Amino acid sequence: MHKLGRNEPCWCGSGKKYKACHLAFDSKLEDYYFKGALVPPRKLIKNAEQIEKIRKSAKVNIAVLDYVAEHIRAGITTEEINRWVYDVTTGFGAIPAPLNYEGFPKSVCTSINDEVCHGIPSENVVLQEGDIINVDASTILDGYFSDSSRMFCIGQVSEEKKRLVEVAKKSIEVGLAQVKPWGFLGDMGQAIHDFAKENGYSVVREIGGHGIGLEFHEDPWVSYVSKRGTEMMMVPGMCFTIEPMINMGTDEIFQDADNGWTIYTADGMPSAQWEIQVLITEDGYELISY
Ligand code: MF3
Ligand code: CO
Repeated sequence: MHKLGRNEPCWCGSGKKYKACHLAFDSKLEDYYFKGALVPPRKLIKNAEQIEKIRKSAKVNIAVLDYVAEHIRAGITTEEINRWVYDVTTGFGAIPAPLNYEGFPKSVCTSINDEVCHGIPSENVVLQEGDIINVDASTILDGYFSDSSRMFCIGQVSEEKKRLVEVAKKSIEVGLAQVKPWGFLGDMGQAIHDFAKENGYSVVREIGGHGIGLEFHEDPWVSYVSKRGTEMMMVPGMCFTIEPMINMGTDEIFQDADNGWTIYTADGMPSAQWEIQVLITEDGYELISY
């Protein structure tokens, strides 16, 4: 690769001189690379302008889930949630990222009870008292992507399911405590897995989080059963999701053979997932969406 001169414009597109921008960053990254760390390629490092646009997209993403939180209740169909998400998102001039994504037919994923993720909204699915549901919204604004999801308890929910939802939420905080520049994604993955196991739960292995911002799904793929000191290094400017799927029973899952999307737990026990989007900063992280 061409070695940039100190006074040439930085590769990140900031318009600043290299020496005033990513020069020190690059030499630090190179040191880690030669020590054997998996370091991110440049295309995963967002500059200030891109970050600002991702933040704006996330504002819409958060507003969509806030709207769902205010209106969700027993008796509505998941198709109604789909309509809310479509209407609120487009009302802000944004686009629901799932719609037509690899053939996904709706604007949001709605996953109830034993559905792990990628549930498809339907006129025929009515929310029942006692259900737990994940609503996963992803937003494109001005070409920039945001993605987060929340759990909702419908009416009176069993203590068992409530605890699952709470532990899944707490697992995000436990993971976040490991999110810092020059650490490894595996530090976060192991912390989440350990915490879920301590609580008697399992973590889905095959599906994980992802880099995000300029595209819906960028590298790295993010596991929540990884090991401390492994996986990609977290460095300032990286943006990715934390979205572990926590199962009450087995970690085994299967895919709906008819719709090709929805993932279920193999034992029919409930699964819970919260999703946030974070940006790695110079001294920690910024919560971009939640
Ligand atoms: N928010 C989900 C994820 O990336 C979206 C899955 S793709 C979809 O984790 F088409 F199903 F929406
Ligand atoms: Co996601």
